This record gives sequence, structure tokens and C-alpha cells, in this order.
Amino acid sequence: MRPRILIVDDEDVNLVLLSAKFERVGYEVEKARDGIEALQKVPIFAPDLIILDVMMPRMDGYETLRRLKSREETRYLPVIMLTGKAEVEDKVLGLEVGAEDYISKPYSLQEVAARVKSLLRMRALQTKLRETEKMAALGEMVDGIAHEVRNPLTAIGGMARRLYEHETDPQHREYAERIIKSVERLERMLHRVDEYKTILVSTLVKGDINNVIAGAVRDAGEFVDNEGKEITIKTELMPQPPPMDMDAGNLRVAVFNVLQNSVEAIEKKGEIKIETKPTFDNTMLLVVSDNGCGMGKDDLRTIFNPFQTSKFQGAGLGLTIAYRIIQDHGGEITVESTPGKGTVVTMRFHLPSLPRPATPVKV
Ligand SMILES: Nc1ncnc2c1ncn2[C@@H]1O[C@H](COP(=O)(O)OP(=O)(O)OP(=O)(O)O)[C@@H](O)[C@H]1O
Ligand SMILES: [Mg+2]
Repeated sequence: MRPRILIVDDEDVNLVLLSAKFERVGYEVEKARDGIEALQKVPIFAPDLIILDVMMPRMDGYETLRRLKSREETRYLPVIMLTGKAEVEDKVLGLEVGAEDYISKPYSLQEVAARVKSLLRMRALQTKLRETEKMAALGEMVDGIAHEVRNPLTAIGGMARRLYEHETDPQHREYAERIIKSVERLERMLHRVDEYKTILVSTLVKGDINNVIAGAVRDAGEFVDNEGKEITIKTELMPQPPPMDMDAGNLRVAVFNVLQNSVEAIEKKGEIKIETKPTFDNTMLLVVSDNGCGMGKDDLRTIFNPFQTSKFQGAGLGLTIAYRIIQDHGGEITVESTPGKGTVVTMRFHLPSLPRPATPVKV
């Protein structure tokens, strides 16, 4: 996705110059002429960074900045203050209110672009760090709960199975059976939590994506047989994909988890297709599509969250695991779905840039 920048300035010439510069280098740009307009546009445009002039009618840059930094949703949004005032106190005031950077007019467009780039890089790192910390804390909590639950669960399951075997009253046998089913569900969840822990770190080395896909398809084929379904898994792969930095084992788990969902989404008979295709921007797409039950918009929003499941036997960790692995590969995973029609999962990987062909030297 292209980075989004909101430029706030009351002078046309600045708006035109800055937006032309950033649009030329691939950013998505929105403009505002004062603080009030900027604050209205922020929730709609959702910028990744704001360039903010200080002297503006209606609401000046400082007040706008103060408001942005006092709201939870915009507290971490980087802001570069841009002003004709070069006095030290003004810079200090801007930075104290919370501006990430400060540039005095007249400025060079290159300098502004370089600072924007560096702030965006920092923001991406901070977001990743926050996410990693959140995932680590969640992982620790889940691990603790799993540890506490395991022993009592073994006892409950064992007792229920004994009751089921020796009980003659059909009603009581049914109760015991229900307990066993629920215990099995929790056991599966614990197994998934263990699996989640083992994929926590991906070690990347050069590898062939086609081998990974072949492995995941074999695993999925066995799963189809076990489920007793009639599902064809078709592959349309680039014949010689460029070598990619990967953790082949983890990536196979990610692709299998996606395929497993497709198999589960097909009731009895259906088709799953896996394609790989290059894109113009040096990325490669791995697309898994199925003609299963699909899902609605509400379900789509939360599918990567841990323990989000619509299945009795599900732990809701398959896509959380896949997301994590793809992210560790520097890639992205997105899902589109139509209820009753099917689902398309797209994984995008950034390929290492190809070496430039050497310029022939004339002798
Ligand atoms: N291909 C798909 N078609 C329809 N729904 C899907 C598909 N993939 C995912 N989902 C929905 O997203 C939810 C979350 O998927 P996820 O793989 O994370 O968990 P799960 O399959 O329920 O359990 P687990 O993978 O841990 O066994 C599923 O329960 C299902 O509702
Ligand atoms: Mg799943």
C-alpha cells in the first residue's frame, strides 16, 4: 500500500510544490488549508504522516498538533512542523507539544522528502515493535493458561471416557460423550498453542517456493482423505520462481493452514486452486482460492485474531499462525470472500532485488 501523507498549509504554492513532489515519488497525498480542515480529514484519509504549517487562519499548527497528540488514535502519528519562523523558541514549542521533526522555510524539497522517508521507516519499526510486544505478552499469557489447564483436562477426559465405557444408561452415556467431545476440542486447542510456540522464530535462507507448495499440497491431500471429501487441488505455479529468503518448514505450515481452511470450507465436493505469479513491483503473489462456504464482512475483519473461530473443532489459530509466519518473511496476507461462493487468500512476498546486469566494458 502506498504511504499516505496529509499536507496542511494555507499557501497554495506550498501545497502544490509538496504534493507534486510526494505524488511523483509514489505517495498518496491529501491537502488541507488549516487545522480544522486537517482534523476533519485525518479520520477519513488515515494518513501515515502529516506535514503541518504553523501560521494558518482559523486554527494554527500548534493547536492542531496539541489536539492530534491528545487523542489516542492519533498520538503516534508522526508530524513534521513546517514554518517560516526559525526562532529557537518556536522550534522548542513545536517539539515540546510533540512534533517528531521541524523544518524551517525556505526548505529544500529533497530534505523534506528525506525526513519524511526516515520518519515513516521509524514509524513502521515502532508499529512492528508494538505488535511484537503485544504478541509476546499474549503468547506468555496463553502459555500460562495452557500449562494450568493441561493436567485437569487430562483428568476430566480420562474420567469421562471411563464413565462412557461403563455406563449403561443411554442418557448418562450421552452426557459423558458430550464431555469427551468438549475435552477433545480443548486438547486440540492446546496442541495448536504448542504449534504456535514452535513457529515463533523464522530463520530465513534461500529456497524454492514450489517445493514448499508441493509439501503443503501433500499435507492437504492427506487431510482431504481423512475428512472423506472429494476435493481437487489444482496448482498453477511459475515454472522457475526466483529463489526467495524463507523458512521452508514454517512457510509450509502457513500454506497448509490456509489450505486446511479451504478444505474445511468445502462441505463435500469442491475445488481449491493455488497459483503463484510475479508482479511488476518485484513481489510475488501466492494465491489460494476455494469454492467453499465463504464468509461475511464481519467475520473477515477478525479472522487473523487468535481464537477467532466459527468451527466447533477449531482453535482459531490457523490464520494467526499463517499471519505471523508471512509477516516474519516480510510479506503480507489478505483475504477476500463472498458468502456462498468462496474465498481467496493472497500472500505477497517481496523478492530480493535482482542484481543489475554488469555494464560491458569497452577495451
Ligand atoms: N477459506 C475459508 N473459507 C471460509 N471461512 C474461512 C476460510 N478461512 C478462514 N475462514 C474463517 O476464519 C476463521 C479463522 O480461521 P483459522 O484458521 O484462524 O481458525 P480455525 O480454522 O477456525 O481453527 P484452526 O485453524 O486453529 O483449527 C475460521 O473459523 C473460518 O470461520
Ligand atoms: Mg484453520
